[in-house]
Amino acid sequence: MEFGVILGLALLFIFVVSALFLRVWTSPKEMEVIPGTLGWPIVGESFSFLSDFSSPSGIYSFMKKRQQRYGKVFKSFVLGRYTIFMTGREASKILLTGKDGLVSLNLFYTGQQVLGPTSLLQTTGEEHKRLRRLIAEPLSVDGLKKYFQFINNLAIETLDQWSGRKILVLEEASTFTLKVIGHMIMSLEPSGEEQEKFRANFKIISSSFASLPFKIPGTAFHRGIKARDRMYDMLDSVISMRRSGNEFRDDFLESLIMKHSKGMDEKANEDKLTDKQLKDNVLTLLVAGHDTTTAALTWLIKFLGENTDVLDQLRGEHTRIRESGKGGENLTWPEVNNMPYTTKVISETLRRATILPWFSRKAAQDFEIDGSNIKKGWSVNLDVVSIHHDPEVYPKPEVFNPHRFDAPPKPYTFLGFGSGPRMCPGMNLAKLEISIFIHHLVCRYKWIPLDKDDSVQPTLVRMPKNKYAVLVEEL
Ligand code: HEM
Repeated sequence: MEFGVILGLALLFIFVVSALFLRVWTSPKEMEVIPGTLGWPIVGESFSFLSDFSSPSGIYSFMKKRQQRYGKVFKSFVLGRYTIFMTGREASKILLTGKDGLVSLNLFYTGQQVLGPTSLLQTTGEEHKRLRRLIAEPLSVDGLKKYFQFINNLAIETLDQWSGRKILVLEEASTFTLKVIGHMIMSLEPSGEEQEKFRANFKIISSSFASLPFKIPGTAFHRGIKARDRMYDMLDSVISMRRSGNEFRDDFLESLIMKHSKGMDEKANEDKLTDKQLKDNVLTLLVAGHDTTTAALTWLIKFLGENTDVLDQLRGEHTRIRESGKGGENLTWPEVNNMPYTTKVISETLRRATILPWFSRKAAQDFEIDGSNIKKGWSVNLDVVSIHHDPEVYPKPEVFNPHRFDAPPKPYTFLGFGSGPRMCPGMNLAKLEISIFIHHLVCRYKWIPLDKDDSVQPTLVRMPKNKYAVLVEEL
């Protein structure tokens, strides 16, 4: 469901609740000293937030106006929540390091319900560290090597279909990245009935995240929970086949089952994952990894289309690889790990598009940032767009220039994959998928955009609203 509809229903809901309980329109008492305004009664500043959100520059202008008026830390009321927005390196360091359990991730209620209580996104402290350790190895560069050939073949097959056609890059990228992650996690075949079921359930789950929290039949949230249950049934049957020894596949699920899941031996079970934990976290990886990688790949192709000098330079890197290697379509593992300019193009894409425009946390205790006292329980959002568009760090920030990353960025100035204990565990996979796909794309094709609309979808992950429609031609 789109944000506009959600907002309308959310406002109605908030209005009824407010009327019922005669709530007075003020911020919590301790929040009064924080500069900023809450906006209109009940709706707060949600309208201007949402209208800026869908504009080409995203929430940047919403943030900039208020930062100029109030400073780096200000309060607001958006999407039914009292919220403190903050930006800058100090805020990033404090929030993202999250030392001594200072903050926890602030997931929407619907997300909490769909992903389940043992999801990585809902755990904190030692439990969070333990889960991260378990998934780190299969998602490390070395751990991903075994998926390279599958991703390479899939990229070639996907691009074979593009020649001479009008396509929606976002749709194509979405199909590609879902097939990759389905294969990586549980060796799902890229086509066939199981893939279709997996895709259909995943789409319903994904769209239930930004829905209203009513678990009533017919609502997106209810449909999401049902699709999640069907997905868990699929996973249950895969897990039981693997446990029975009837099937062995060298994938992410297998490595967790073999090394880290609870089995018959009671003694060895300490510190191991239950099936519920396994399923919650497989789903978490799917949800956290799919839209983000799809968006990144789409933005990158769009930015290349708009910056021919960058495209030429990138094509130069890939043509050299193709000419100096085995030739043809045989991209190799060492080659994909040695694409310096491509790596900079990916970073610049993540800076310029800022796919996750803010990181949301909940204060787990009182603390101070830039002279403002933050109280336990408050929702605090780190404004990443302003960090990525700070002209002192990135001169002419609206220009797409991968050479900004010739030198490594200073700490907390680039947060494309986040930082600290919650830094993206899937970044190696995302970079691998994108690098392989881009290699084959720029070596074979040119493309012409069919629509000049620059607006952005009103979803949590920023994506071009028109799905970047292009006409593709062989070089
Ligand atoms: C280009 C693609 C991607 C981008 C831009 C991206 C970005 C991010 C960012 C910024 C965070 C930190 C958010 C915060 O601190 O609030 C994050 C966390 C996370 N990402 Fe990614 N991500 C991408 C791909 C992936 C993939 C492919 C996977 C899974 C295979 C994945 C799984 C996760 C998970 C599970 C977390 C939460 C980590 C935790 O809470 O400890 N991401 N991602």
